[in-house]
Amino acid sequence: MVQKKTRLDFMEMKKKGEQAVWITAYDFPMASFAEQAGMDMILVGDSLGMVVLGYQGTIPVTMEDCLSHCKAVRRGAPNTFCIGDMPFLSYQISCEEAVLNAGRFLKEADMDAVKLEGGKRVCNQIKAIADAGILVMGHIGLTPQSSGQLGGFKAQGRDAASARELILDALAIQEAGAYALLLEAVPPELTVFITKKLSIPVYGIGAGGPCDGQLLICGDMLGLFQAFTPKFVKKYANVAEIETNAFKEYIKEVKTGVFPGDEHCYHILKGKEEEFYKMLKEFE
Ligand code: KIV
Repeated sequence: MVQKKTRLDFMEMKKKGEQAVWITAYDFPMASFAEQAGMDMILVGDSLGMVVLGYQGTIPVTMEDCLSHCKAVRRGAPNTFCIGDMPFLSYQISCEEAVLNAGRFLKEADMDAVKLEGGKRVCNQIKAIADAGILVMGHIGLTPQSSGQLGGFKAQGRDAASARELILDALAIQEAGAYALLLEAVPPELTVFITKKLSIPVYGIGAGGPCDGQLLICGDMLGLFQAFTPKFVKKYANVAEIETNAFKEYIKEVKTGVFPGDEHCYHILKGKEEEFYKMLKEFE
């Protein structure tokens, strides 16, 4: 049985220069495969809105959506450090709502930590959540919940002025009490600088490296999500093609009478055949 990692293990990994590897997962099978494979942690991302619920972005995702998927993931990966992603408007309105909603991820879905998007502007919420004894991870760079303000799903920190803002955000997030930080879609040069500057673990998705670990969205790396593939994704499988081909084969076999075969059938119990056919005759 794998031993679930803790915040201290992730700190130790940073000190030793050991990479933490994680993916997003949204359901029981995906989470159990991730745990069996030896993933260091799992994010139940609000990207579930796009990958499994078919929305165009993450804005419509609700607390109830997130909690329901977190519960399924926890059942699939009981021994993996799991992070619940706080959806849009679950933390922006007030520190009080942020703490209440962060707490629901722990109390109702047995998550180990929560993640929220934004820099200086959400530091009061990060502090309030951390002060309540909850592990909270920051997330800056390309923050999908504010992609409207960013002008789309665009890389961030590519010039000195915006990179400076991200460094200030990273420092403020650490100061507010976050236990870790995620950088999304920023230049590797900035990632390396922030990773060295911060004492908490700094992870990247589309942020190059080296940093303290890498995250990929399961739908992207498995080739499940077809709407678009960001430049930073490496596809390790093409599950969409495997599934579509399997469905096509099934349709063909049913229509041509190949499936179901005799080996897929439950037959009349041995010794009960005569009685069975006699019964059928009653209806003729
Ligand atoms: O929801 C998610 O999967 C995320 C990643 C994009 C980092 O927040």
